[in-house]
Amino acid sequence: MEKKNSVMEEIISLCKRRGFIYQGSEIYGGLAGTWDYGPYGVALKKNIENTWWKRFVTDREDMYGVDAAILMNQNVWKASGHVAGFADPLVEDLKTKKRYRADHLLEDNGVDVKGLTLDKINALIKEKGIKSPDGNALGEARQFNMMFKTNIGAIEDDSSVVYLRPETAGGMFVNFKNILDTFHPKLPFGTAQIGKAFRNEIAPRDFIFRVRELEQMEIEYFIHPDAWKETFESFRKEMHEFATEVGLPSTKVHELEVADEDRAHYSKRTIDFEFDFPIGKKELWGLAYRTDFDLQSHTRESKVDLSYFDEANKTRFVPHVIEPSFGVGRTMLAIISSAYTEDELGGEKRIYLKLSPKVAPVKVAVFPLLKNKPELVNKAREVFSSLKKEIGNVEFDDNGNIGKRYRRQDEIGTPFCVTIDFDTIEKDDSVTVRDRDSGNQERVKISELISYIKEKIS
Ligand code: GLY
Repeated sequence: MEKKNSVMEEIISLCKRRGFIYQGSEIYGGLAGTWDYGPYGVALKKNIENTWWKRFVTDREDMYGVDAAILMNQNVWKASGHVAGFADPLVEDLKTKKRYRADHLLEDNGVDVKGLTLDKINALIKEKGIKSPDGNALGEARQFNMMFKTNIGAIEDDSSVVYLRPETAGGMFVNFKNILDTFHPKLPFGTAQIGKAFRNEIAPRDFIFRVRELEQMEIEYFIHPDAWKETFESFRKEMHEFATEVGLPSTKVHELEVADEDRAHYSKRTIDFEFDFPIGKKELWGLAYRTDFDLQSHTRESKVDLSYFDEANKTRFVPHVIEPSFGVGRTMLAIISSAYTEDELGGEKRIYLKLSPKVAPVKVAVFPLLKNKPELVNKAREVFSSLKKEIGNVEFDDNGNIGKRYRRQDEIGTPFCVTIDFDTIEKDDSVTVRDRDSGNQERVKISELISYIKEKIS
């Protein structure tokens, strides 16, 4: 049973009331492990994805974007090892028949579950007398494949089985030869993709941390095997830089060298980037050395040669792969939870999101001081239009009193609010710019406003 975490509850509540994230299929009672993004959630997500894409794809000359189909030939997942081995240990409450992650139940009872085999899990459940959250006896733990399975076309038999992809990586491995044949890149080069992946988690939990439908940003970087260590190091550094770029405090990002027995079947070395979430230190991203496992397996299964000819050395070999893998939802949760701040301003309690301007859904909000004064509203509209043309994510708000408008913008993390008042019109053609974090206000000439804001948010 999921324990309540008060900070997480506050974050979930803010995300809902301010239009970031809603429960999936909410009016039908929800669908566990699915979440819908509202306007500010979409904006934040796109800002994260665009920052990632710019850093890892458009700013480089060695990266090729791919957007592969989610439904793939079932043999892709036989070759990748997911049909045989993409499983979590599941255990059943013998009375209620509800199913739980056996490793989660052990964790909840203070057991370090790293590297445990199924036999060891079963032995520990017995030894510690672990019961279900409803207090009932548990059956034997068994492996449960996490891929969603469906059928394609009109006939439901083994030949029509398809899986919703469990990682975007597969779509890049099967397009390796297409990229080679159409672009003739020299090694090293990478493919990059942002897209949905699906995992039938037995126990989705912790808001958008553990979900059944997720978005990934992944790179498969193809190299000569001799270059794996230096390439691994260079992506390791870049991943930390990306964390800083989207505003994650470096003190909350940690590396975990994943032990042999805990690594995915395809990896010879993995570093998990962990983050201090409100639910504890948990996996945020992964960096794996997938060797030539995937290209060799796809060569065997598809009978298509996926080797590379190195012109310079006149040698042919199957490239090895370094894979930096990022979950968009987890990145978003890390950003929102580390930005979530409660303080006191002007003697009043307030909540605000201390988002980096780079990812903030709204960069500037523009207010007329009073809604019922056309001269203020018209001037505010004029200022809003010119800012919007230059900056894009700018919002106009004339609802309620000014304090309420500030509170709303604080909660969605808007770095600056611009207010048009009577002095703007009658005296000095300048506006008030209020800083989200300090609450300090400065008068700025309208003629200098765009460059003032641009400098602050760049
Ligand atoms: N491609 C790595 C993962 O999905 O975890």
